[in-house]
Amino acid sequence: LCLGVLVSGQGTNLQAIIDACERKEINAYVGVVISNKPNAYALQRAKKHGIPNYVILRKDYPSQLEYEKAMVEILKAHEVELVVLAGFMKILSSYFIECFRNRIINIHPSLIPAFCGKGFYGMKVHEAVIEYGVKVTGATVHFVDENVDAGPIILQEPVFVDQNDTPETLAQKVHEVEHKLLVKAIKLLSENKVEIVGRRVIIKEGE
Ligand code: GRF
Repeated sequence: LCLGVLVSGQGTNLQAIIDACERKEINAYVGVVISNKPNAYALQRAKKHGIPNYVILRKDYPSQLEYEKAMVEILKAHEVELVVLAGFMKILSSYFIECFRNRIINIHPSLIPAFCGKGFYGMKVHEAVIEYGVKVTGATVHFVDENVDAGPIILQEPVFVDQNDTPETLAQKVHEVEHKLLVKAIKLLSENKVEIVGRRVIIKEGE
């Protein structure tokens, strides 16, 4: 399965995918990495593993559509079959989503539908979790559709919030779960064990 990974930051999720592919844990490979940030460390990780990588900047295009077309062109040129948003901080329009209908997944650092949607990204999620005082948070891998952070959920895993947790310590705990969950979701998709039934996702175990 050829993966196209979109990144904006550190790339620890990208690294988890690269490692799992190289260890042959999943029958997939990262065909291309695209970042919207020139200095995203994720790009260094791609370079280190000889993965084609591009910086595509919204400001270099006259419209969101042209910006998305540029990314779609690169993904298609690399024969990407599954697009993975791994810490990607740009909203994608229905044009992009239509080009890869039900073939885009995202990792979000909370138990959707809690603490998600516009404004809830990166550390802001964990700050809101601590602020609210919930006892359980977690990570979610979901399909990307037109609604932000609201596509059909593939996998979720809880992370218990300790009363001494800070957003930083919580982020660390959630991050470890994200890495595991994202790799597991890609593995299931590479084995065609994921079926979308309306809003719900059925995982076909065994087989
Ligand atoms: C993380 O907060 C992750 O939860 C979210 O994007 C952020 C950056 O992840 N999806 P990464 O280290 O760049 O993969």
